[in-house]
Amino acid sequence: MIVGVPKETYPGERRVALVPSVIPTLAKAGLQVAIEQGAGVSAGYPDALYSEKGAKILPNRAALFATADIITQVLCYGSNDSTGKADLPLMRRDQLLIGFLRPLGSVEIIAEIAHAGVLSFAVELMPRTTRAQSMDALSSMATACGYKAVLVASDVLPRFFPMLTTAAGTITPARVLIVGVGVAGLQAIATARRLGAVVSAYDLRPVAKEQVQSLGARFVELGIEAKDAQDARGYATAQGEDFYARQREAMKKVVAENDVVITTASVPGKKAPVLITADMVRAMAPGSVIIDLAAERGGNCELTRSGETIVENGVTIIGEINLASTVPYHASSLYARNIAAFLQHLVKDGKLNLDMSDDITRETLLTQGGEIVNARVREFFSLPALVAQGSA
Ligand code: NAI
Repeated sequence: MIVGVPKETYPGERRVALVPSVIPTLAKAGLQVAIEQGAGVSAGYPDALYSEKGAKILPNRAALFATADIITQVLCYGSNDSTGKADLPLMRRDQLLIGFLRPLGSVEIIAEIAHAGVLSFAVELMPRTTRAQSMDALSSMATACGYKAVLVASDVLPRFFPMLTTAAGTITPARVLIVGVGVAGLQAIATARRLGAVVSAYDLRPVAKEQVQSLGARFVELGIEAKDAQDARGYATAQGEDFYARQREAMKKVVAENDVVITTASVPGKKAPVLITADMVRAMAPGSVIIDLAAERGGNCELTRSGETIVENGVTIIGEINLASTVPYHASSLYARNIAAFLQHLVKDGKLNLDMSDDITRETLLTQGGEIVNARVREFFSLPALVAQGSA
């Protein structure tokens, strides 16, 4: 089978779905790789590196889609709502599509993908199990975002991060608060600590406390308890507005005491909770920075504008939505390893092996035979359950 890698088309996107180093691994599983000319250039992988590892370079997108049995992208139609649609007519029935598809985003778009007859797998739906860890692209991208968020904050903040003892006196370290301690939040804590900041963090899941402390940060106790904070998959559950109101009240003072606030709080498929109000921003010292990693889902800060940077009362609020793309070399490398592990899981001896008793296959399969077949997605959009779930 041939795995095709098109150039990413989302505006400003610099990542690529496969990097040259995974090509030999895929060859062992009976998979050949073809890439659209120049697909890896903006991530730091020129065509020659792909050819050296045995990949075919195809001159244009149409040729790539026509040649490949499996298409893998970073942002497929669904997660790429600007230019992704143009790929649909290039796809044929039963062609495989693997990538970010935003399965809990727009049901109309997922239905369009289904109607194209494509066999699509959404990497966002990867189970959070030990067995699936090597295929977990969400975690890889969250790692890149958490790291980069701290660097962006340190660049904008008009202060040093570390404590400095100089002949001109001592500089106190920057104070950084992380709200939401999932994969991105943990990486942000580690990065801010490396730069010498004094870091504190909060998450409504009580299990996060130990992880925060193990990274040398202080866990902020708000004195409020979330009801059933964590679901079976380990994700935070949505809380009532009453909880969020109490959380905002309790966080007021903590937010005002910090120079940098990085928010990552999200609940799958839901609008991000608003945890920082305009009043809380106004209580921060001028020059402070908020990086809102939940910007794409509406933002954790009331003033966040998705994809934009604004300054309110001297506080910079950054609503960047594609930070992972700004570390394209390593973000692509991690993503490619996730996809290669997933392909090795799906393909046996060069043939597709759709084993629906396997949780990784079943939970990531989004569309098949013209239908949205994923049980979780159907339930989320209140679509009637399918009688016989997609079988191979
Ligand atoms: P996410 O991106 O869905 O959310 C980020 C963080 O925001 C979460 O820690 C969540 O608890 C927190 N949050 C939500 N509402 C909040 C609020 N009102 N106030 C403060 N914090 C709030 O999370 P991510 O990074 O996808 O991780 C979700 C879970 O999955 C975590 O428990 C993580 O450890 C686990 N995980 C497990 C893996 C595995 O077992 N293979 C791999 C990756 C993550």
